[in-house]
Amino acid sequence: MKRKDAESQRRRVAKNFKMNKKQNKEYPSVQEMNDDQRIGIVKDIFASVTDKYDFLNRVLSGRRDVAWRKRTVSEMLFFNTHRFLDVATGTGDLALDCANSYPDVKVVGVDFVQEMVNNGLKKVDTQNLNNRVELKWGDATNIEYKDNFFDVTAIAFGIRNIPDKEKVLSEMKRIIIPEGQVMVLELTTPEPGFWRSIYSFYLNGILPKLAKWFTKNPAAYEYLADSIMNFPTRREFLKLMESMGLKNCKAIPLTFGVCTLYIGQK
Ligand SMILES: C[S@@+](CC[C@H](N)C(=O)[O-])C[C@H]1O[C@@H](n2cnc3c(N)ncnc32)[C@H](O)[C@@H]1O
Repeated sequence: MKRKDAESQRRRVAKNFKMNKKQNKEYPSVQEMNDDQRIGIVKDIFASVTDKYDFLNRVLSGRRDVAWRKRTVSEMLFFNTHRFLDVATGTGDLALDCANSYPDVKVVGVDFVQEMVNNGLKKVDTQNLNNRVELKWGDATNIEYKDNFFDVTAIAFGIRNIPDKEKVLSEMKRIIIPEGQVMVLELTTPEPGFWRSIYSFYLNGILPKLAKWFTKNPAAYEYLADSIMNFPTRREFLKLMESMGLKNCKAIPLTFGVCTLYIGQK
């Protein structure tokens, strides 16, 4: 979808949501949304939480998000093009972590919410990384790079929000060179049992209340809980990666399985 169409779609969908006096929106549950609605809602959510996004990530995950991205970066292997693509880069945290860890790697980050990209660009500036980190508007389902251009590509906390996961994975596979890596870092639910019950209580009971204190759009964090509970299981997601022709696929559970790093090779 072209950028202009995407923007007007976002506005159209956002307008359809009820808003009460406090400007709190209500989103339908993930299972009730169709794909177009979901894409519009995701754009609306990230455009509305941009200012508080980094802060809330740190608070709501107890800074684990920082450790999870660092672990992802530590698994990257640069061996030919020395280029990395961060898909759904948001405010650019993974792109910046990669650039800081590998001084000879060129990094590109793309996201379809310009407000998120703009915040990321400020961080690139502050860290003096303009010569190696490029952040810009781009759609994960239609990546504007030629085949075999990057050594590694990753998507952190993004694929959960994209209805057509096959398309994203096939685009990510297309733009890396043979033997290159596709990485997916995503919030997941622990296996059934004690930790799952605790996590579900946190996600559905505590997290939206915490978010209410800090953001003008707490419904965004109800959507977050809903989208995590509706994400495929570890086994299902590995199967999906394998079905896309990725080899040596593995899943690394992080922090009792509340997050998982998936890695596959072209
Ligand atoms: C939870 S944020 C993650 C941001 C960042 N990767 C991080 O680690 O914090 C999800 C991001 O995915 C982006 N996104 C969702 N669907 C997308 C798509 N089809 N193309 C590009 N970006 C997308 C959203 O705009 C949002 O910035």
